[in-house]
Amino acid sequence: MAASAVAEEFERLYGAAPEGVWAAPGRVNLIGEHTDYNDGFVMPLALPHRTLAAVSRRTDGVLRVHSADIPGGIVQLDAAGEFGGPRSAGGWAAYPAGVVWALRAAGHAVTGADLHLTSTVPTGAGLSSSASLEVVTALALDDLFGLGLSATELAVLSQRAENEFVGVPCGVMDQMASACCAEGHALYLDTRDLAQRQVPFDLAAQGLGLLVVDTRVKHELGDGAYAERRAGCEAGARALGVPALRDVAYDGLPAALDRLAALGESATVRAYTRHVVTENARVERVIGLLDAGDVRAVGPVLTEGHASLRDDLRVSCAELDLVVTSATAAGALGARMTGGGFGGSAIVLVEAETADAVAKSVTEAFAAAGYAAPRVFPAIPSRGAHRVTH
Ligand code: GLA
Repeated sequence: MAASAVAEEFERLYGAAPEGVWAAPGRVNLIGEHTDYNDGFVMPLALPHRTLAAVSRRTDGVLRVHSADIPGGIVQLDAAGEFGGPRSAGGWAAYPAGVVWALRAAGHAVTGADLHLTSTVPTGAGLSSSASLEVVTALALDDLFGLGLSATELAVLSQRAENEFVGVPCGVMDQMASACCAEGHALYLDTRDLAQRQVPFDLAAQGLGLLVVDTRVKHELGDGAYAERRAGCEAGARALGVPALRDVAYDGLPAALDRLAALGESATVRAYTRHVVTENARVERVIGLLDAGDVRAVGPVLTEGHASLRDDLRVSCAELDLVVTSATAAGALGARMTGGGFGGSAIVLVEAETADAVAKSVTEAFAAAGYAAPRVFPAIPSRGAHRVTH
């Protein structure tokens, strides 16, 4: 939807034109999965799919939010009363409310706002619709209230909103991707110190393409399986006496696994540890390949990463596995699930001229398995959060 249409709808709802319209995108992650809550490395890119927010300030401590995509009309919340505290606001309004709460908790004078939102980021598809909603809210309020926060600071506050207000124990990757990605680039991010590098990612110039396959299996990170992976990884780090699994070097992995076994840690904790350490190494390999211009060689690393997510971390599902097997059988260079898993989306690296044939093969494999038709579209590395109108 165009920004002007969002502004017009805001005016119809609230009786006056908005002060501005802002946008924040969804993302896919190229490599580095379930590493961000282990202080590790990730490499997401922003999608053209985005959440738009038309916003005006208020001074009376009231927050009003409205979504074009979700029935229920305008939701009114009392920012001055902090909405009754973390985890009190249910439904989608908890995301923008959580951002206001996080900004205020950090000492920023946000005195209320009216928001109208609409999004082209599919929900429950593992493409960070929640992060785009948080980040667009944070950016709009930063701009309107003149807070002067950096994109990184906005991402961290958005993650705090999701962790502490909404109650989902996610890492920082999705919010950083939505806030900080650049058009035509992937974002190489160290989630420990948030150091970042924009890595040129012009697949078309190389005759390549990256497909997103949304399996339409709804994923849900709040249901405990994600938190269980996180707790298992933290148990591994604790047993090894390191701050996070990021501190286990790839070369030291066999010794670390032996040590965990000797300490009586479960096969599950050892497998989680192996995933995180090998996945961080895969990010390093992909960076090396991209820097060397050897993009085709990234494919097998993606497929290897999928096997690790499937077998060691156990966050895949039959539909995601089928994307990988059917796409690679049809000649894709590599494929893997992306995001939290348990459903959601996969990415597939292809020679551009085979993109349609690979997409067709995956779709046919889904039909043959009796699954609902997947949604396939190209991942075009797009711009991070920004103001759309002045
Ligand atoms: C979800 C979380 C992220 C990250 C990924 C897995 O998208 O929100 O923080 O942990 O899963 O890499």
